Order: sequence, then structure tokens, then C-alpha cells
Amino acid sequence: MNLNFINNNNSFIITGALPYANGEIHLGHISSTYLPADIFARFLRKLGKKVYFICASDDYGTPILIKAEKENKTPEQFVQYWNSRDREDFASISISFDKFYKTSSKENVEFVQDFFLKLKDNGYIYEKDVIQFFCDYDNKFLPDRYVLGTCPYCNSDNQYSDLCEKCGRVPQEILDPKCGICGKPPTKKSSKHYFFKLSSFSEKLRTWLSENENLQTDIKRYVINWIDEGLDDWDITRDISWGIPVPLDNAHGKVFYGWFDNHLCYISTTMTILADENNVDGKKFWNDSQIYHFIGKDIVYHHFLFLPAMRMGVDNEYKLPDFIPCRGHLMLQNQKISKSRNWYIGLRDFISQYDQDYLRFYLASISSYSQDDINFDWDLFYEKINNELIDNVGNFINRVLSYTKKQYNGIVPQPITEFDSDDKICLEKISTIENEVAKFISSIEVDKALKEILKFSNYFNQYFQTKSPWKNKEGTANTTVYLSLNAVRELTLVLEPFIPNSCSKIWLQLGYSETETEKIKTNENVIDKEDNNNKDSMEKLKIRPGHILGEVSPLFKKIEKSDIEKQKLKLQNNLSVKT
Ligand code: MF3
Ligand code: ZN
Repeated sequence: MNLNFINNNNSFIITGALPYANGEIHLGHISSTYLPADIFARFLRKLGKKVYFICASDDYGTPILIKAEKENKTPEQFVQYWNSRDREDFASISISFDKFYKTSSKENVEFVQDFFLKLKDNGYIYEKDVIQFFCDYDNKFLPDRYVLGTCPYCNSDNQYSDLCEKCGRVPQEILDPKCGICGKPPTKKSSKHYFFKLSSFSEKLRTWLSENENLQTDIKRYVINWIDEGLDDWDITRDISWGIPVPLDNAHGKVFYGWFDNHLCYISTTMTILADENNVDGKKFWNDSQIYHFIGKDIVYHHFLFLPAMRMGVDNEYKLPDFIPCRGHLMLQNQKISKSRNWYIGLRDFISQYDQDYLRFYLASISSYSQDDINFDWDLFYEKINNELIDNVGNFINRVLSYTKKQYNGIVPQPITEFDSDDKICLEKISTIENEVAKFISSIEVDKALKEILKFSNYFNQYFQTKSPWKNKEGTANTTVYLSLNAVRELTLVLEPFIPNSCSKIWLQLGYSETETEKIKTNENVIDKEDNNNKDSMEKLKIRPGHILGEVSPLFKKIEKSDIEKQKLKLQNNLSVKT
């Protein structure tokens, strides 16, 4: 997983885990999944790659049905609301999906039914009567989230019947069950269900996991451990009214479990986009592309076992993922985020108060490519924005641009002195930064990439200060300004995937039109360190003498400490004790 790999491939399909259409996007979603995926997608586009960045609302499932009923809405109306809301929220932080669709789309419904029939033809589906939890009081079958109990693997209590949040496993049958609606112990009733033979894929999955170098090692280790413990076949149907109908005559009233259909929407949505493009064979495109599914660590089981097994079950008609970048959860002020306790920050709320790029910058700077949880800390947010984004980056850019405006009337000066050793270091940095950053983003280490960028900016801040062009020591002012302007350009280029909105402003200030696109070029522009000739070195710089800057103004506004104190207080006050 390195830059060569990226350079050698031309098309990429990137997905972000599909948000359930029943609640608002919060900072945790952004940090674990959508922001790293977006930075990566934007970076690839800047390299000139063909990229499809796909997402959709995850529309089906019992929780959604019940919530819709509570609000006196049809499930269709209910999910439509959340689909639009998510779309707006993602746009508010510039998550650049090529398509944000929905699992309840006509295309996905057909795709899923078809997929099921293929699995069935291949012998991977069987029927079995299952004794199911049924609440006599609520008069309902109680699938999944509507039964709480003790995990049979790790003994944690108060876990959902379809996912233990403590150990991450999917229990076959939860112990000491309680109805999630009324809390009474449910009874049991028999019902016919369809099963997917997950167990028969154990060896294939093990081989795929062991051989795939791109998957995170620690995750592979525990998933293989799950396989060693033995995989259970998987009940893929439910007796509820909201879901994709099982396409068989004798299966009336049965729908697919949400985790059967949702990840297929990655494929069906990509096919939907490709169908609109002329002369593209969607399936071939999928199989020729590098496939990345960005997820949070709570859905490892589904993406490392169910998803690949299902694709294997239709003879790899659509190839398996190449990467499943998985990140830990976001904590908030060192406590676990909990929507029910109101210990979370909604994206909409945040964006109504701060520049979207502040959030992107801060979250990217703490987003390590690992399963470790990371922490949103208001004080650190304050420091990083004020010290790193504003004092370091913003200040350097504004200082150089304003100085050029003032002293040179906004016209890029012609260097008149030979480059001295400091200048040559600058030149070297300017010519290598794209590659340095590209190396880290290629391996999805966005935090490390951002660190490199900050080092670069810091270096040039000091360079500009030390050279003090206003003193024009030995006539070096022009050279300093000229090189600094080129550093601003590089900085903007590499920062763009992180803070795209601010960078659009910087391009304008630098005097580029909005339509002029700047591309990152890796493995090029490497300047020979021994090159003593200004002229040749200058050939490689992009902002030429005589270029005219646009209007210049400060990019960012500092955050007040008192504001941060208010935020902390607000969180505490909103905290509810109900569980
Ligand atoms: N809606 C699921 C969740 O929030 C994620 C679905 S991802 C997909 O946990 F792969 F299934 F689509
Ligand atoms: Zn458990």
C-alpha cells in the first residue's frame, strides 16, 4: 500500500459505510469514516484518477420501521426525510460523494433480489424453521435490536441480539432475553427463515484474509480467530413489513435482513452511476478498479465476513474489496459518545457555529489509521485551530500574500540574486512536499500527511521571518518573496483534500481563476540538489514572475477561549442521565 500502487492504478471505487436513515450524522461518523474517505477520494482525483465515491442511506430494518410508526409516518416518508437530511449534512462539510443514494432504491431492490437468487442457485441458501422471539404483549416478532440480553460469548449484559457491542460478535442466541419495546421476557414462536451458508466459506475467507496484505493486520488476526471458533450460518430474513421482499412465491411477508441488502448497495449504486455513462461496462469497471470500503470498527464482522462471503457465493462476479480501512470510535471529552445520554455533537450543530474546515482540520489531525479510539477534546480543538491552522498555516499564507500586495502591487517579483543555501533548501522542500504528503495519503494516514504539511508551513514561516524581506538584506527580498509564494501554492495544493473550502479561497487570492484546476504530480519535479543555476530551478516553479495575485484577505478567524468554555458547559448541561 504505497504511492507506487496508487500510481499504477487508474480507477478507484471508494465507499463510506451507509448511515442508518434514522438519526443525525454526528462527529463520530465523520471522524471514523467519511472524512478519511473524502480526503482520500479528493487526493486521488487531484492525481487525475478516475474515482467514484459512493454512499447511500441504509433504509431498512426494524428500528426504522418502529421509529416511523412512532412519528406517524410511513417508513418511506421517514427514510426520505433522513436521506435528504444526511445529504445536506454531508454537503455542509464538503464530503464529496459522487452519489449519495439509498438502499431502498429500485436499483438496489432488484440487485439484491437477483443476488439472492444467484446464491440460491449456487446452493448457498436453505430454509429452516426457527423459533423466534415473539412479544405477546406487543404482538410482534422481535428481531435483532428489539431483543436485549446477555452475550453468550463474553457474558456482557444489555446487548442487542444481533450484535454484542462489547466483544463485536454476532451471537447466535442471546441469553436472558427481554423485549426491547416493553421490557417483558418474550415468548417464542416458530417461523420459516432463509439462511446463508456462511460456514461453508470458512476456508475461503481464511485464505482471502491471510493473503490480502492490504487489510489491517490486527483486524485480520481477530477475524481469523472468529473463523477458528467456527462461523454460524446466517439468518438473512425477517418477519416484518419494511424491507426488500424475498423474491420467492412461498415467502410472502418475508423481507431480507438489513445487513443482507445494505452492502450490496455499494455495488448497485456504483452500477447506477456507471449505467449513465456511455460505453462503460459496469461490472468490468468494478473488477478493474481498486475497491475501498471505509468503515468504523463496530462493523468489522459484517465487512470482513458476510460481505466477502456473499460475493464469493456468486463466483466473484463483483470482486472482493482490496481495502477495508477501519478506524476506531471518536470519544467526546474522553467519554464514550452516546446518543441516548445526549453525549454527542451533531454535525449540523457544529457547522452552525464553526467553519467546516476547522472541523475537517482538527479531525484529520487526530485521525490515526488504526482501531484505537480517538478523542474529541474542546481544548485541543481550540489549540490546534488557533495555533496550527491559523498561526502557522493561515498566518504564513496571509503574510506572504499581503506583503506581495503591498510591496509589489500584487505582481510576483523576479528574483535578482543567486539562490543561497537557504533558498535551495526551500526549493528542495517545494519540490518534494507533494510526494511526501502523497506517500502518507496513499496509505490513508491522513494525520501523518497533515503533520508533514504543518512542518512545511512552519519551515516557511521561519524562512520568511529570518530573511525579513522588508530589510532587503543584500537585495534578497525578491527571491524570498518569490520562493515563499511558490511555497504558498504548494501548501494550497496539498492542503486542498483536507480543507477544500479554504483552499478555493486561497486559489482566488493567489490569482487563479476558480476553474483553473491544479493537480498534484507525484514522482515528478524532483529538483537536482546540485543544481546551482537559478534559471533551471525556476523552470520547475509554478508561479512565474509577473503573475498577478487576486484580492487578499485573512482566511480564518480565531476561536475565543470563552467560546470553548461555553461549548463544554453546553455539553454538560445537555447530558441526560437516562440510559
Ligand atoms: N448502517 C450500518 C451502520 O450504521 C452500516 C451499513 S454499511 C454497509 O452500522 F456496508 F452495510 F452498507
Ligand atoms: Zn459479547
